[in-house]
Amino acid sequence: MNIEVSKGLIVTEQTDLLVVTALEGATKLSGTAAEVNELLDGALFEAMNEDQYKASVGATYVFRTGGVLPAKRVLVIGMGKKKEIDVEHVRVAGAHVASAAKRVGAETVVLGPIGTEFDLDPAACAQACVEGMMLGSYRFDGYKKAPEKEPTEVQDVRILVDDGKLTRPIKKGIELGTLLARGTMMARDLVNTPAGDMHPEALVKMAKEIAKGNPRISCKVYDKAALEKMGAGGILGVGQGSDHPPYMVHLTYTPEKATKKSVALVGKAVTFDSGGLSLKPAQYMETMKVDMGGSAAVLGAFSVLSEVAPKVKVHGIIAPVENMPSGKAVRPGDVLTAMNGKTVEVLNTDAEGRLTLMDALSYAEKQEPQAIIDLATLTGACVVALGEEITGLMSNNDALAEKVLSAAKQSGENVWRLPLEKSYNKLLKSPVADLKNIGGRYGGALTAGLFLQNFVEKTPWVHLDIAGPAFSERDVNAYTKRGAAGTGVRMLLTYLKSL
Ligand code: BES
Ligand code: ZN
Ligand code: ZN
Repeated sequence: MNIEVSKGLIVTEQTDLLVVTALEGATKLSGTAAEVNELLDGALFEAMNEDQYKASVGATYVFRTGGVLPAKRVLVIGMGKKKEIDVEHVRVAGAHVASAAKRVGAETVVLGPIGTEFDLDPAACAQACVEGMMLGSYRFDGYKKAPEKEPTEVQDVRILVDDGKLTRPIKKGIELGTLLARGTMMARDLVNTPAGDMHPEALVKMAKEIAKGNPRISCKVYDKAALEKMGAGGILGVGQGSDHPPYMVHLTYTPEKATKKSVALVGKAVTFDSGGLSLKPAQYMETMKVDMGGSAAVLGAFSVLSEVAPKVKVHGIIAPVENMPSGKAVRPGDVLTAMNGKTVEVLNTDAEGRLTLMDALSYAEKQEPQAIIDLATLTGACVVALGEEITGLMSNNDALAEKVLSAAKQSGENVWRLPLEKSYNKLLKSPVADLKNIGGRYGGALTAGLFLQNFVEKTPWVHLDIAGPAFSERDVNAYTKRGAAGTGVRMLLTYLKSL
């Protein structure tokens, strides 16, 4: 899909599909839709009404022009009610435009200027529209012998502007939207790939490939022997039951203009979570290839980072491990020593993510960043608390939390803050070690967050529990279908770009 912006008049465009917008509950068409309708002698609006088209968000209406206009068809895309309109509606609309275009076999699509008529920022709208179109068209069918034949793919999309001043910002919006979508799709691919193929070595290879040939990104890999030297007892302990050895990977992005400012992104990278000796029931294990979703977000972001080009140094830290039961596996009751010297009594081997993250976070803090953001499919309890579509955020720093929440809002990701409730620290006390790896029966997302806080001593830090949204058994919205969502990539990149 090639997406461009150019100056032109929508009514004279020769294209397979001309896209115009409509508002729900409006008594007449406005903007380019009104222009098109006029040239069609009012036939478009008449047909829409006759067919009781309502213009709710993402609803489409296709009208054949019969040669009256140079465009073959007009596609009306619903934007919902005027006072509810926001950039997220544009993202959803973008996805519906792409699928409608496919449905009618359109190879070329022309869009009128988006946003200006709704008082939204045209660049942000172009960006969101591109994200919606690309993410909505995402498929993962590489494992099928005969993937379903897709109707014609849209080849060329052009966004038209009448005001030349908008060309540049819209072009920037298209570029950013393309990068954010590409990073998100990369994360989706990594998560959707079965754990038998996406094992720790495979994840390490992906990280190396991202750095390869990119002068702005370097990649350091710590193998088992190196982890032993560093005293990364958590990563080693979780990894010891698997035939795949554990690793830690440190990617570094250095911006063109030298700066002392840096941010560390840490992602949970359990390539498969069987639960270990505290084995999961079969049903809960079915989707546990998702458990490297945090690292997929970090790698997805890194895959486009030098093009998004934030002005800060970025560390990406992941510890790929597989959590398996075996004669070598860590046992309930074993005590592991983290890289920072704290000891942890492992009472449930299925609470493994925090054991790998305790080392990854200690390592991240040693890089002396101004902020640490970790992403982890950490607890089922977070899914119980917030449902399947909302990420839980916990933080030791209000200013950083606000920045991440605002980046999430902009990128259309659903995030809600939960408390790091000090008084619950008592639930993590162990009679034999400094900590135990599980809290009580309730508030599991919070005790997991509190556990991690023990390994961030002085740095502003945000923890994102993405256990709910990272993978979904059913479609979430028009641009996030069943499967991996690529959760976190867009909000991370939006946050970094804002610095
Ligand atoms: N990987 C799981 C959490 C998870 C659940 C991710 C659902 C995605 C979807 C995590 O390692 C885990 O098993 N957590 C346990 C912790 C418990 C043993 C304290 C949980 O949430 O049940
Ligand atoms: Zn687990
Ligand atoms: Zn896990």
